Amino acid sequence: MKFEPWKKQAAEAAVELIQPGMVIGLGHGSTARYALLKLAELLRSGKLWDIQGVPCSKKVEEEAKTLGIPLTTLEEHPELDLTIDGADEIDPDLNVIKGGGGAMLREKVVAQATRHQVIVADHTKFSPRLGTSAPVPVEVLPFGWCTHLRFLEGLGARVSLRRNPDGSPFLTDQGNYVLDCWFGPIPEVQSLARKLESRAGIVGHGLFVDLVDEVFLAGPSGLRRLTR
Ligand code: A5P
Repeated sequence: MKFEPWKKQAAEAAVELIQPGMVIGLGHGSTARYALLKLAELLRSGKLWDIQGVPCSKKVEEEAKTLGIPLTTLEEHPELDLTIDGADEIDPDLNVIKGGGGAMLREKVVAQATRHQVIVADHTKFSPRLGTSAPVPVEVLPFGWCTHLRFLEGLGARVSLRRNPDGSPFLTDQGNYVLDCWFGPIPEVQSLARKLESRAGIVGHGLFVDLVDEVFLAGPSGLRRLTR
């Protein structure tokens, strides 16, 4: 609860970038949700209009529909003007770890299709080196998922299968499993990303390298805007 006002401040500041006519990526997670709520409020009050959103997850799609935000798809709009999303860890080069909510694969597809990718977060997400405070979530096909454990451990990770509160494996929107990989500070983020991408059965991961244009970070000393 302590961080909520900062998350809200960062998210609402980013919403000010939205202009009428834009197609927007709608991020997943508790910080991006504040942006979704603010966007809905601006549309309802008539202060913003002619906006369409592409949700990064089924959960966000449901919430956006409930809030009355007009939705579209990447088929209709393969290029998005702006995406506002959260992150689990952010480094000084604006590379980030995402996927605490398990939506990193769709989030990355949306980020790749976006002209201006904005991350909103409270100040605790900023870190000198990715991997210091967050695991890298790795999305794997359920088929043969166990075979990736040794591979990931060989890359230096402590690995755990993400589970639901009832003990069943957590499933992504694609029906895949998530292996949370604790690497500790990662010396070469790009090189780790390539290694993960080279392995059959790994369908995505939460390292976002060179994909973020701007970060809105809020904390006790106010709002900081970091650009690449
Ligand atoms: C969802 O899969 C994630 O990438 C989130 O954007 C990320 O975990 C940040 O979530 P919070 O804003 O809830 O911390």
